Amino acid sequence: MPTISELPTTFAEGKILMTRAGDGVGIITFNNPDKRNAMSLEMWEGLGQALVALRDDDAIRVVVLTGAGGKAFVSGADISQFEQSRHNAAASEAYAERSAAQRALLAGYPKPTIACVSGFCLGGGLQIAMLTDMRFAAADSQFGIPAARLGIAYGYDGLRNLVSLVGPSQARLLLYTGLRVDAAEALRIGLIDRMIPNDELLPATLEIARTIAGNAPLAVKAAKITIAEVLKDESRRDMEAIKRTGDACMDSEDFREGRRAFMEKRKPAFKGR
Ligand code: COA
Repeated sequence: MPTISELPTTFAEGKILMTRAGDGVGIITFNNPDKRNAMSLEMWEGLGQALVALRDDDAIRVVVLTGAGGKAFVSGADISQFEQSRHNAAASEAYAERSAAQRALLAGYPKPTIACVSGFCLGGGLQIAMLTDMRFAAADSQFGIPAARLGIAYGYDGLRNLVSLVGPSQARLLLYTGLRVDAAEALRIGLIDRMIPNDELLPATLEIARTIAGNAPLAVKAAKITIAEVLKDESRRDMEAIKRTGDACMDSEDFREGRRAFMEKRKPAFKGR
C-alpha cells in the first residue's frame, strides 16, 4: 500500500488539495464531499493553480485527479451557483469563460494525467475526467450526463471528447436519457479504461502512475503529443510537432541510458533530457 506522507497544499479554501505522493506522482483532490465535490467557480480557479504548481515542478511526472469522501469524483458543476451565474445564454457564456483557461490547461497538460474515480462522476465532473489522459474507476462508481434533466446543453469540447471515447450512439444514449451507467457498463463502452475493486482503486492507480513516472519522460511526452495530434482533424494536425518530439527522444541522454540499462540488465535512471 503506497503511503503519502506530505501534508496537502490547499487551494479554493481547502476545496482543492494538492499532494506530492512520492516517486514523481502528484495528486489533486476535489474536496467538498458534503456537496459530492460539486465544482464551484472558485474550485475551478483552485484546480488551475494546483495544475500549474505540479506542471512547474520538475520532480512531478504524472498527475492523478481524485475526489474526497469516496462518494463522488465530481458530481458536476455546483448547481447552487446557476441561479445567479448561469441563468441564461449570456450568463452561461460568461460562466463557461471563467473556467475556460483551466479546462484548456488540463486539455493541453504537458504531463500524463489520470482520473481516479470513486462514486459519482457526473456532468461537468465527467467532462473533467474526459479531459485527463485515462480514467480508472472503482467498481461502485457511476457515470452520467444529466444535462437534459436540467435543461442545459453540454458543450462542444465535452461532447467531442465523449464521442471520441464512446462513439456517437452511446453518446446520444447518455445525453438523451440523462441516465447513469455503472462502472461495468462504462468500461464496456470505453468511457473508463480500468474498473478496480473499491478499496484497491487508489493504490492500483498510484502503482500505474509510478510506472509511468519511472519511464523516460520524453518518450511518454512523445506518445502524449502524437496521440493528441492523431485525434485532431487532419487539416489541423501538426506533423512537425510529432517529428520534433520524436527527434528529441532519439537525441536524448535518456535513450542512451535506456539502451545501456537494458544491455547491463539494470533499471534505467531517466532524467527527462
Ligand atoms: N451542485 C450542487 N450541490 C450538489 C450537487 C451539485 N452538482 N450534487 C450534490 N449536491 C449537494 C446536494 O444538494 C446535497 O446538499 P444538501 O446536503 O445541502 O441537501 C448534497 O450535495 C448531497 O447530495 P444528495 O443528493 O443528498 O446525495 P446522494 O448521494 O443521494 O446523491 C448525486 C448524489 C450526485 C447523485 C445527487 O446529488 C445529484 O444528482 N446531484 C446533481 C448531479 C447533477 O445534476 N450534475 C450535473 C450538474 S451540471
